[in-house]
Amino acid sequence: MKKITIAIDGYSSTGKSTIAKKLAKKLGYVYVDTGAMYRAVALYCLENHLIKENEVLKEELIEKLPEIELLFKITPQTGNADIHLNGKNVEKDIRTLRVSNVVSMVAAVSEVRKKLVQQQQRMGAHKGLVMDGRDIGTVVFPDAELKIFMTASPEKRAIRRYKELIDRGDNVIYDEVLKNVQNRDHIDSTRKDSPLREANDAVKIDSTNLDLEETYKKCLQLALHAI
Ligand code: C5P
Repeated sequence: MKKITIAIDGYSSTGKSTIAKKLAKKLGYVYVDTGAMYRAVALYCLENHLIKENEVLKEELIEKLPEIELLFKITPQTGNADIHLNGKNVEKDIRTLRVSNVVSMVAAVSEVRKKLVQQQQRMGAHKGLVMDGRDIGTVVFPDAELKIFMTASPEKRAIRRYKELIDRGDNVIYDEVLKNVQNRDHIDSTRKDSPLREANDAVKIDSTNLDLEETYKKCLQLALHAI
């Protein structure tokens, strides 16, 4: 069977990552969660005091970029490809609301995007991968054989994210999560460098009234058709 590149883009908490991961497993493809990479850089900024008064210290961050090493490594116990920041598994640390609240600011810095996009293109050089993010079909792999663009109402997405955080034991308030989802939508769609856009040749899936399994089935059908 020929190997293709599958790009899944869209708004936050549309189920992109869960579906992309499941699809990659089913097809025997590599899965890359590019949001995890931007989140890891945001965590680095928080840990190294590169965010002051809700602003990224851009020049300092650019200077530090060569020191930021991101790597996906399989954790044998779970079989998941967890993200490592400078040698440390940060998969859990990057999923907090604290990181979610600053990640879009960090992801708007062009130099950060340049570094991460290059790494993503290297990871996908041999095809046979499912990559999810915001700019995969438009910037990272504009020639991807299959592009899916996922959307859902902000309220529905916030409920999903709220449940995830509560299940993990995080003490969060629904309104705060909704605000974060809306704020990230706004920053991601209006930034100058590679804003969140649906590629012209993408297939759009609105999951407001679909559960994960239904959405996955649609994506699998599209993938099998494209291969
Ligand atoms: O996918 P996830 O919601 O974890 O992504 C976190 C943030 O990382 C997004 O809100 C966006 O600001 C940024 N991001 C991006 N480009 C990507 C993936 C994520 O700008 N390809």
